[in-house]
Amino acid sequence: MYYYAFLAELHRRLAPRAYLEIGIRDGGSLAQAHCRSVAIDPAYVITAELDADVALFRTTSDEYFSRPDPLAPTGGTPFDLTFIDGLHLFEFAFRDFIYAERYSSTRGVIVFDDVLPRSVDEAARQRHTDAWTGDVYGMLEVLARYRPDLAVLQVGTRPTGLLLVTALDPANTTLSDHFDEILAEFRRPDPQPVPPLLLDRLTVLPPHRLLESDLLEVLARAADSPDAGVDLRGLITESVTRTLGADFAPATVSG
Ligand SMILES: C[S@@+](CC[C@H](N)C(=O)[O-])C[C@H]1O[C@@H](n2cnc3c(N)ncnc32)[C@H](O)[C@@H]1O
Repeated sequence: MYYYAFLAELHRRLAPRAYLEIGIRDGGSLAQAHCRSVAIDPAYVITAELDADVALFRTTSDEYFSRPDPLAPTGGTPFDLTFIDGLHLFEFAFRDFIYAERYSSTRGVIVFDDVLPRSVDEAARQRHTDAWTGDVYGMLEVLARYRPDLAVLQVGTRPTGLLLVTALDPANTTLSDHFDEILAEFRRPDPQPVPPLLLDRLTVLPPHRLLESDLLEVLARAADSPDAGVDLRGLITESVTRTLGADFAPATVSG
């Protein structure tokens, strides 16, 4: 399944109240959105037909999120869905995730593009291939180690995979608290040490497996529930464990 088709399903079934896209290019992925959207790219040239109420920002994500109120274009509504597809270097994707989670709802889903490089060359920080994922794959290890509370799902869409992150906690500051040490460890020189498990795609869900689960419905239903009193993380864990397997569920967090 091509990633646009998968994103279209996410929009249809999650029915997000607000959508964030970092990295627009020609609008191909943005064209899958139908809700109030904030779209950021310093060099977009939109040729796709858009079908959403979009606020476009010709700037970098770092500049955009340094503004006093990044939720101003949505009237304060947090993002229920985010697509991170800007600059494919580890530190940019890492910062983009920190911003995106801070301005997401707890039912929100953050999707990274390009987490499954098909070769070490494709993952290079110094681009020298046509198709290029860069070293965004490093986020997999970072989230597993620093944020086991998140539900993180690798999805084998064409061409270079997506990473779905749910069970978001907008108040969690673990990643920004450890920002410097994470950068020191995970911004690595080429050639990239891409784990063989990843190159062989041994931990990747086929897209249809995720779409056949009820995870998207669990998240969509949460929109109608007041935040207080709903154990959304528990519902996500139950859905993922039942339909996708315990290995994909968030870790139990005490306290
Ligand atoms: C791979 S393209 C996006 C493709 C688009 N999401 C799609 O799937 O149709 C990456 C885009 O990120 C933009 N970009 C580069 N640096 C950026 C930054 N710092 N912040 C936001 N966007 C950035 C580039 O201008 C480029 O258009």
